[in-house]
Amino acid sequence: MSVQWFPGHMHLTRKAIAERVKSIDVVVEMLDARLPGSSANPLMAELTSGRPTLKVLNKQDLADPVRTEQWLAHYNAQPGTRAIALDASHTAPARALIDACRELAPQRGGMFKPMRVLICGIPNVGKSTLINTLKGRKAAKTGDEAGVTRTEARIVLADDFYLYDTPGMLWPRIIVPESGYNLAASGAVGKNAYDEEEVAYELIAKLKTDYPGLMEARYPLGLSPEQWAATHDDELLQAIGRQRGALAAGGRVNVQKAAEIVIGDFRALHIGRITLETPEQFARWLKAGRQADKERAERKKALREQGFIERRKKPAVGKARPAPRR
Ligand code: G4P
Repeated sequence: MSVQWFPGHMHLTRKAIAERVKSIDVVVEMLDARLPGSSANPLMAELTSGRPTLKVLNKQDLADPVRTEQWLAHYNAQPGTRAIALDASHTAPARALIDACRELAPQRGGMFKPMRVLICGIPNVGKSTLINTLKGRKAAKTGDEAGVTRTEARIVLADDFYLYDTPGMLWPRIIVPESGYNLAASGAVGKNAYDEEEVAYELIAKLKTDYPGLMEARYPLGLSPEQWAATHDDELLQAIGRQRGALAAGGRVNVQKAAEIVIGDFRALHIGRITLETPEQFARWLKAGRQADKERAERKKALREQGFIERRKKPAVGKARPAPRR
């Protein structure tokens, strides 16, 4: 799946973040607890490398609690890293956040050495919601359109604790195909950048093996867990569409509508608390994605050297790229 989701203003965002990082003590990286690995921005990792990092697994109310524990343990085992899980129902998350940051940078504190924290995350991960809660009033604008927060803002959480907000930043290319599907399923990628049928098939492929019981409870097709796992994704989407009345003229299943139903049910928690990836799975995907990307780059280089393809001009920083493919 090819997803073009890196609008021109993201280059400016990248520059602004690179500048801000120079005077930051801790980076708070907000992740979607349903897809922690896939919602981590590799570009951000590059920009903030070496800084103590607090991973906030947000929307934990939507995620599988067992897998959330696995991800927390995974991150907490990494040097210079702490992880906590939160959701929008936490009315006072500031304490947990401040405590974790102080653990990461104990040398900072007091009026003369205030803690300077940068908060980042992909659009729709819930950053505005968290910041609103931290501030205790409706200040950052929330909404379901990617990238509503455009300008950097400083939020004073305590006399000696400053939080710098950044616009939700994306990265130019998703090299892990599974991440593309998971991001699309979660709603992080704009609707026009992906094919719903393809995303629904991938989602079903995962859910039928990892959560067959939840699938049977939501879509009672009379299948045992083994039967769910053994049935082709195609057939399952057809059966779900039929069962949910997603029919076109002549009684055929409207596959597009069936796909929208499955994706919508996943997002709205109608299937249950689901996490689409474990640390081990994501590590495998990342390894394969990097290898495929390396091979792709080598093939391109060879074609260029042989004169088969043109050298591509880099877009000027800050200049808008062509609009995403519709
Ligand atoms: P952003 O700034 O990172 O782009 O995200 P934002 O806070 O706007 O949140 C995106 C959507 O995710 C919002 O829903 C918000 O309510 C929801 N959300 C944020 N945190 C959590 C959480 O911990 N759990 C759950 N279940 N949802 C969360 P929306 O439908 O787009 O808007 P709204 O009408 O709910 O405000």
